[in-house]
Amino acid sequence: KKILIINGPNLNMLGKREPEVYGKDSLDDIRVWTDSKIKSEATTEWYQSNIEGEIVDRIQAAHSQDFDALVINPGAYAHTSVAIHDALKILKIPVIEVHLSQVYRREEFRHTLLTAKAASAIMSGLGKQSYYIAIKSLID
Ligand code: DQA
Repeated sequence: KKILIINGPNLNMLGKREPEVYGKDSLDDIRVWTDSKIKSEATTEWYQSNIEGEIVDRIQAAHSQDFDALVINPGAYAHTSVAIHDALKILKIPVIEVHLSQVYRREEFRHTLLTAKAASAIMSGLGKQSYYIAIKSLID
């Protein structure tokens, strides 16, 4: 299995960014930890961008690549981006949206998940386990 993991804005600052909310691990720490848990069960490609259009471009490119599934943490774009929602709708492969934090326990502006309407499942609030469980369930 080949799985693409897309990360949106400010996730490059994990570890430094509100550690009480998002934990002390950097995105690279999460990547290494997750990859070590899934071992050779899948190959993963991790992508991060702070720019909405670049994320749309990466999703569009995945349409003609041989990924079996997509995991996306759209960051704040989850709450605002019709463009990322629409790009996800083009894909024929399963999509799982992940969030480190439990967004429904937080500010009301995080309670609308536009992109999740284009995902088959959501994993929110389990920290780095959100990524692992999403990827593991796609493998299984
Ligand atoms: C987040 C939740 C979003 O509301 C926030 O804007 C983020 C991170 C999460 O992983 O918990 O950037 O997607």
